[in-house]
Amino acid sequence: MESLTVDLSSRSYKINISSGIILSLGAELKTYLKRDRIWIVSDVNILHLYQTDLEKSFLKAGIELNLLELPSGEKTKSFHFFEKTVNWFLETGIERNDLIVAFGGGVIGDLVGFAAATTLRGVEFIQIPTTLLAQVDSSVGGKTGINSQFGKNLIGNFNQPKAVIIDVSTLRTLCDRQLKSGYSEILKYGLLGDIKFFNWLDFNGTDILSRDEALLTKAIKKSCLIKAEFVKQDEREQGKRALLNLGHTFGHALEAVTGYSEQLLHGEGVSIGCMLAFEVSAAMGFTSLEATKRVKSHLRKVGLKSELREISSSLPPTEKIIQEMLKDKKVNNGVVNFIMVKDIGEAFVTDEVDLSVVSNVLDASR
Ligand code: GLY
Repeated sequence: MESLTVDLSSRSYKINISSGIILSLGAELKTYLKRDRIWIVSDVNILHLYQTDLEKSFLKAGIELNLLELPSGEKTKSFHFFEKTVNWFLETGIERNDLIVAFGGGVIGDLVGFAAATTLRGVEFIQIPTTLLAQVDSSVGGKTGINSQFGKNLIGNFNQPKAVIIDVSTLRTLCDRQLKSGYSEILKYGLLGDIKFFNWLDFNGTDILSRDEALLTKAIKKSCLIKAEFVKQDEREQGKRALLNLGHTFGHALEAVTGYSEQLLHGEGVSIGCMLAFEVSAAMGFTSLEATKRVKSHLRKVGLKSELREISSSLPPTEKIIQEMLKDKKVNNGVVNFIMVKDIGEAFVTDEVDLSVVSNVLDASR
């Protein structure tokens, strides 16, 4: 088993990475429990695969399992399912010293982390992420929340989990499209802060996406290490942590105009967004065309989306996409703070990006 720590003084926690742990999850989690009851929230797709294993494992460990099944998909990150989840905790008799488990992808992790923070003013929770995207990004660092009618992730808090348990064997059943979506968040870490990691990914990316479990484990661990360092330095995103949003201002706007639907997965928005960040940076004179070409060639090599024209649905006018960017959480005094790049591995935040340049780059990408 690989292990690392997110170092946040009294709120520090371990990220454990192994393969096949789900089968003995009951025994694994027993050490975290103050009494023999546990509350696990998951989604229909995950439970279709793991419910029997979970039930057997908790029965064997002598733990009463309370299991809530939610629908899968971004629409579950809503007030409606937040209310349903909190009410379920309360009606099944949860107490403050109990433990909640978010067992699923980023939607489940974000929703359940927020519900755990607010139930009885806070019940501890553990993240067991089952998608690559959740394993390398959303389950680590404590960002939790739901979407609002005004945009994605606009309601939430910072609520660090008690532990993150990553089982890479769960990736065996993840479809290729979701795997690629998660890979774009791995790539993001190389692009924003570690050129050596980017070079390693450029060499190994195709094998990682062919599900080589040893390489996947290395890529996940390195991603978590990079993220843990950012979170340690800036837990509540007052500065440096914002760099982790490379490509996300563009990506979120594209997700919004495609209705947070299957038309564009989050990671697909991120890979296109990272490419746009390099293209806008090049057009603004912040980075070289050479760096931009290298990123494009990597995205093409591993089969990730890099251009607006690769989105299957028709997009609204560019102006509308820019309007969506203005709803970003990084807007200050009406001006968008963009994450731009000086080179591969060197990102920075600036409010000096000309929106007409952004508009031209978006037009060229359509
Ligand atoms: N996903 C970016 C962050 O957690 O800060």
